Amino acid sequence: MHTVTLNNGVKMPIIGFGLYQVPDAEESENTVYEALKAGYRLIDTAAGYQNEEAVGRAIKRSGVAREELFITTKLWVQDAGYEKAKLAFSKSLEKLQLDYLDLYLIHMPFGDYYGAWRAMEELYDEGKVKAIGVSNFSSDRLMDLIGHNKIVPAVNQIETHPFQQQLADAAFLKGQGVQHQSWAPFAEGRNNLFGNETLVTIAQNHNKSVAQVVLRWLTQREIVVIPKSVRKERLIENINIFDFELSSEEMASITDLDTGNSLFFALNDPEVAKMMANWKVEL
Ligand SMILES: NC(=O)c1ccc[n+]([C@@H]2O[C@H](COP(=O)([O-])OP(=O)(O)OC[C@H]3O[C@@H](n4cnc5c(N)ncnc54)[C@H](OP(=O)(O)O)[C@@H]3O)[C@@H](O)[C@H]2O)c1
Repeated sequence: MHTVTLNNGVKMPIIGFGLYQVPDAEESENTVYEALKAGYRLIDTAAGYQNEEAVGRAIKRSGVAREELFITTKLWVQDAGYEKAKLAFSKSLEKLQLDYLDLYLIHMPFGDYYGAWRAMEELYDEGKVKAIGVSNFSSDRLMDLIGHNKIVPAVNQIETHPFQQQLADAAFLKGQGVQHQSWAPFAEGRNNLFGNETLVTIAQNHNKSVAQVVLRWLTQREIVVIPKSVRKERLIENINIFDFELSSEEMASITDLDTGNSLFFALNDPEVAKMMANWKVEL
């Protein structure tokens, strides 16, 4: 498995399996089981996805040794705050049937995420989690968090795909030693990603699929990817990206697809902040 090394020396697979929008317990369990059989070792879930229990069952069923796995889950907005974060962490561990986590992320930069971060620093010091990080943090929010705390986040998981490449944030993250992780590498198929002419041409050049080209492009930029698919043939296809390389011309033509805008939500929109404050999940 190809890995990156986080700022605390922990090794993280450069490709993993994402599990957003798979709320059905049986489908989640079977998909994660298939992903582990196909060779994925990083599983990305979240309290907010409501499938941690299914992930736990799939891990047990797979028989893969714990030390081979890299399990990420995330703290939802309603549980930001020191006490609430500690409780949410133990609930997630219990659901996943694990005694430690590989990576715990603050899902969104809303609510009392400073209190949450201090709880996570303690969990890290106690060895209950191997690395702690954030998600959806803009560079200014991340700099503020770094400036007022002891531990520099190991990872920032942000929307990153050919139409939203996060070039400035990527450079900032590199400078701070924070690993860039992409969510929605395929933009969930929006903007006709799978039919994009540039991507289709590059895919044909290499006898690969558009999905494989996108994942190769991201990993060549040393960005960790967590594509999601509930289809066995696609999850196998998506991990098969290490037997070809994109040329610098191909990389540059994909750079030209950047719009610099989100295809999902603007984190600085007050309506989004309001929505996050009211978004409750049952734990
Ligand atoms: N931190 C955050 O706020 C955040 C937000 C969003 C996502 N995430 C994480 O990032 C992961 C990935 O993002 P995502 O699930 O939103 O979207 P994504 O991975 O960009 O796209 C998933 C979509 O692409 C399809 N697909 C997958 N492989 C394909 C292939 N080889 N060919 C054609 N279509 C394919 C899937 O359909 P099928 O399933 O039908 O194959 C699904 O509709 C999530 O699962 C989650 O773990 C995090």
